[in-house]
Amino acid sequence: MTTHGSLDPRSSFTDIDRRLFGGFVEHLGRHVYDGIHEPGHPSADADGFRQDVVALVKELGVSTIRYPGGNFVSGYRWEDGIGPKEDRPQRLDLAWHSTETNQVGLHEFAQWLDLVGSDLMLAVNLGTRDTAEALDLLEYANSDADTSWTRERARNGRVTPFGVSMWCLGNEMDGPWQIGHRNADDYGKLASRTAKAMRMLDPDIELVVCGSSGSGMPTFGSWERTVLEHTFDDVDFISCHSYYQEMGGDAQEFLASGVDMSRFISSVVAIADAVAATKKSRKRIMISFDEWNVWYLHNEDGGQNDKPEERGWPIAPRLLEDQYHALDAVVFGDLLITLLQHADRVRSASLAQLVNVIAPIMTEPGGPTWRQTTFFPFSITSRLAGERVLRVPVDAGTFRSERFGDVAKVNAVATVDDEGLSLFVVNRSTTDAASLRLDVSGFVRAHGRAPRVVESHLLHDDDIYAANTLSTPERVGVRPLDGAAVDGDVLVLDLPAVSWAAIRLV
Ligand code: AHR
Repeated sequence: MTTHGSLDPRSSFTDIDRRLFGGFVEHLGRHVYDGIHEPGHPSADADGFRQDVVALVKELGVSTIRYPGGNFVSGYRWEDGIGPKEDRPQRLDLAWHSTETNQVGLHEFAQWLDLVGSDLMLAVNLGTRDTAEALDLLEYANSDADTSWTRERARNGRVTPFGVSMWCLGNEMDGPWQIGHRNADDYGKLASRTAKAMRMLDPDIELVVCGSSGSGMPTFGSWERTVLEHTFDDVDFISCHSYYQEMGGDAQEFLASGVDMSRFISSVVAIADAVAATKKSRKRIMISFDEWNVWYLHNEDGGQNDKPEERGWPIAPRLLEDQYHALDAVVFGDLLITLLQHADRVRSASLAQLVNVIAPIMTEPGGPTWRQTTFFPFSITSRLAGERVLRVPVDAGTFRSERFGDVAKVNAVATVDDEGLSLFVVNRSTTDAASLRLDVSGFVRAHGRAPRVVESHLLHDDDIYAANTLSTPERVGVRPLDGAAVDGDVLVLDLPAVSWAAIRLV
């Protein structure tokens, strides 16, 4: 039987850091208020947290969650969100032209994380604030010394430190939209002195310096180089952010998004390693891909959809509530495959975001919650991903992309663990089904027996624009992949055009 590739457990090249399956919660629109926190909702607990949302976040399987922004953090005063709720100030949030009530802050969010079983990753404000305020927050969150801040923390109900290990040094400081936007030199100096001081307080923390907010930014590349020249010795990670959307109705081009993400990662790795070389250092800076998703951010004319000045300063307005269709979920699944393919350097990633705001989980005030199409590739990949990553070279032909030239129609990655192997695969072609035959003789040699397919999941809809909505919450889902089976030494898979699948072999 002709094969198109192989699945050999011996070709594993890296372990996986579970932080790759992270998420992101920003004070934005109905994410926190009327999303995860809705005191009047029938499923809310005594603290106002919707338990139906908690159940779905657990099912999604997110590891570390980045908080509280995003653009929001660059104007945020973290002290507004601690202490008695009735005393907390109501403030204008300039980033999203909204009013922030501060009814959820660090303590409440940490409580919610305990419910969903995820870890906290905090961002400090380097937009309107400086090193001193970052140190105050770090002392409040992590110190076990007897200080005014730790006494206040205890008075606010938390004697033991929060023990936050991962910290972002601001957010998207390269973006002109960012409050306190700086050039790379100024930001690099600020990030370096803030990182040094934070490490004096807590040497065990891991620090993420801001990379570019997209590979299309005019300063992309030179930003990374300059910022790392200043901060190389002070930080562990540099961030990448990237959002994708279908433009001009060109689904085929949209399906090449994984190639863009892959090149973005390789470029940042190359720049970080070049800076290492100039410093004669063997240290390797890792990537925190701490914002990624499909997001319908731009109009066809290249402008942004949102006109904040037209809406005043509402509390928890409906913002960025993108409805995802089957095609989006296939691209999204491919982005996850891409992150896994770079798991040796992408040691942390955050799906942006989680609830209501460009989210896999939607809610209606007083009403139900439902899974968007993108929920499925994330929850299945997070659940089935094993300990190590395998490269899965697949030769199933190419299509022509305007931006990327010849692009592989089928993209795949696998993970291994003691029990078996999980394969994640996408058919990017809008026209051709893919009949794949993958050689599994390596599995047979490694385990002394032929593998069996014990789980298979296919995400595909004949209508690529079908979506789950309030009125049709289960329109798109996953179903078993018909015919996925091992025949001798060969795994047989038939994937329809525009589809994503996961297979578990033991
Ligand atoms: O995730 C939405 C926004 O996208 C974030 O606030 C910002 O960091 C990015 O531009």
